Amino acid sequence: MERKRTPVILDGDPGHDDAIMITMANGSSLFDIKLLSSVNGNQTIEKTTLNMLKIANLLSIDAPVAKGAIRPMKSPVIPAGNWHGKSGLDGYRLSKGDKKIADKPSYEMMYDILSKSDEQVIIIATGPLTNLGILLSVHPDIKDKIKLISIMGGGILHGNWNPASEYNILVDPEAAKIVFDSGIKILVAPLDATEKAIIKPSDFPKIKEVNNHVSDVVLAWLKFFYKHPMEIGYEGAPVHDPLAFLAISHPEIFRIEKMKIDVELHGKYTRGALVYDLRYSREEDFNSEVLMDIDRERYVDLLIEYLHFYDR
Ligand code: RIB
Ligand code: CA
Repeated sequence: MERKRTPVILDGDPGHDDAIMITMANGSSLFDIKLLSSVNGNQTIEKTTLNMLKIANLLSIDAPVAKGAIRPMKSPVIPAGNWHGKSGLDGYRLSKGDKKIADKPSYEMMYDILSKSDEQVIIIATGPLTNLGILLSVHPDIKDKIKLISIMGGGILHGNWNPASEYNILVDPEAAKIVFDSGIKILVAPLDATEKAIIKPSDFPKIKEVNNHVSDVVLAWLKFFYKHPMEIGYEGAPVHDPLAFLAISHPEIFRIEKMKIDVELHGKYTRGALVYDLRYSREEDFNSEVLMDIDRERYVDLLIEYLHFYDR
């Protein structure tokens, strides 16, 4: 008998690692994907929305695709074309198929899905948190229908876009603060774990051996995505976003710490930083479960396992 699937909303800024996260989450068969929601981030909202359509078509995901926020709640946009290329998903030419973009903004689509669901829904967010910030501001009553929010974002010991801040949080710190202050259970995949989630060129032959169309596309994505990090000293591609999914499906491959986290909004050098307040050690004070390390070999094994879902 097939295992009951948990309803999930996927929100992101594809982006190669967002696309690989969606590929793995869909391949796990753990979820009933209710919505693919785009957000401005790695590329413009037009491009991340088009990429969501292409991913849905590639993976035969029949969930609606909804266009999210065109810009952060307060900050200017910060494109990341150097990592993801002009399209935001360079490396393999994909068709968007004939699915149309939903006629409502994604935060309203989220509200409709959450309202109508007869069980709590998981939200996995792998880009700036703008859509969630808007959803929780406009519809605060909907919190009780959200089982948990799992994000890729932040860095406890360091940033990537500046010394203190990671890109997703830096692009929209106001939205991130709304999420962290919401009282909803939050799983966080910060750079402390995601920068150890490196897919190396030496892993490519194992991905090639999967030998189906989706694995070929993922390999092409990785061969594009690893170029920039290798130029700046990484030993492969830090494939950040799947950790926001794996934190739910395979918590055993991580070291996880409970933390009280706040988001810095005003520092000249620290705006967008996650502030880990070590003074709090009581269960009731914690607002986050944070991935602080990963078993990289198990990560690669799970990527391969989930790519086999797409065997002909
Ligand atoms: O800092 C890494 C994050 O920024 C990832 O989610 C990547 O896709 C970009 O959105
Ligand atoms: Ca992302």
